[in-house]
Amino acid sequence: MTVVVEAQNLRQVYKIRRGMFRAPALLQAVGGVSFAIEAGKTLAVVGESGCGKSTLARMVALIEKPTDGTLVLDGADAVATPHADRGRLRQAVQLVFQNPYGSLNPRKKISAVLEDPLKINTDMGKAERAERSRAMLAQVGLRPEYRNRYPHMFSGGQRQRIAIARALMLNPKLLVADEPVSALDVSIQAQVLNLLSDLQDEFKLAYLFISHDLAVVRHIAHEVLVMYLGHVMEQGPKDKLFARPLHPYTQALLASTPGVGPRNVQRIVLRGELPSPLAPPSGCVFSSRCPYAVEQCRAERPPPRVVDERIVACHFAGQFLESGFPEVRGTDNASLSA
Ligand SMILES: Nc1ncnc2c1ncn2[C@@H]1O[C@H](COP(=O)(O)OP(=O)(O)O)[C@@H](O)[C@H]1O
Ligand SMILES: [Mg+2]
Repeated sequence: MTVVVEAQNLRQVYKIRRGMFRAPALLQAVGGVSFAIEAGKTLAVVGESGCGKSTLARMVALIEKPTDGTLVLDGADAVATPHADRGRLRQAVQLVFQNPYGSLNPRKKISAVLEDPLKINTDMGKAERAERSRAMLAQVGLRPEYRNRYPHMFSGGQRQRIAIARALMLNPKLLVADEPVSALDVSIQAQVLNLLSDLQDEFKLAYLFISHDLAVVRHIAHEVLVMYLGHVMEQGPKDKLFARPLHPYTQALLASTPGVGPRNVQRIVLRGELPSPLAPPSGCVFSSRCPYAVEQCRAERPPPRVVDERIVACHFAGQFLESGFPEVRGTDNASLSA
C-alpha cells in the first residue's frame, strides 16, 4: 500500500508571553507524535479538549510549522520544502473544519466556493470548472444546480457536504478533518460519515480524522491514536483498542462512552482536573489522574512500547494485558507492582 503521509516525532511548542519582565512560558501542545497513513485508510486522533488534536491537525495540514520532527507528505519532505515550492504539497492535503457555518464565505456563491481553487491552481477554462463543480456536488449528494446558491441557504449537514466538496476539488491525497461532524445533529452525523467513507473508497483518500467522540471514531477509523496532554497514550488498530484497551486513559474514555467499549467494561473514573499543559505532571503525564498510578509512574515517563500489536505508553500495559484492569474502590489507588 502507498503511504500518503508519515510523521516522525512531530512537536509543537508555543511561547506564551507573560508581560515585559518575565521570560515567555513554554507550552508543549504536541510532544512528539509519529504515525503513517496509507491511501484509503483513516487514522483517528482522540482525546479530551486541549490535548493537542487541532495543533496536530494544523501541522499536518501545513498551516503551522512544527517546532520539531519530520513530515513526509506524498513523498516530499513537507517541513524542509521552501515556502515557494509548496504549491503541489498544499494541494495534496486539504482541511475540513468543525464549523460548517464559519468555514464558508457567506458572500460567495457555491460556484465560487468550489471553482476558485481551480481558477487559482489549474488552467481549466470556465466551462470545465463549472462542469467539475457540478459533478463534485453530485458526488457529495447535492443537486448540481445548488452551484447558484449562497451558503446561508443550506442546512448544517449540507454545508459540511459543500466544505467536503471544496476540499476535494484539487484531488488531494490526504484530508485532515478536525471534528467534522461534532457540530451536526446525531441523525445527520451518520450521513456525513457515510459520505466520507464512500469518498474514501472511491478516491483512495487518506484521512486524519480528529474527534473527541469515540462513537464517531468507531464508525470511521482504521487506526486510532489516543492523546493526552500532547502525548500518545495508546496507538494501533481500531479493533484492538476498542476490544481490549491497554492504557488506563483509553479504558477511561471507552468506559465513559456508552455502547462502544467491550461488554462489562471496567469503569475507570478519572480523578481531578486536566492539568495545565504549562505544568504537566512529572513522569507519566496521565499519572495525576490515573487510578493505578504508583511511585514509578510519577518518577519515570513510560516509553512507548509495542504490546499486543499496538503502541502503549504505560509501565503496566503488559500486566493489564495479562490480567485486565483491577477493580478500583473509592479513590484508593489500586496496588500494582513493577
Ligand atoms: N496558537 C497557540 N498559542 C498558544 N497555545 C496554544 C495555541 N494553540 C493551542 N494552544 C494550546 O495548546 C493546547 C492544545 O490545544 P489544541 O490543539 O487546540 O487541543 P484540542 O484540539 O485537542 O482541543 C491547549 O493547551 C491550547 O491552549
Ligand atoms: Mg480542537
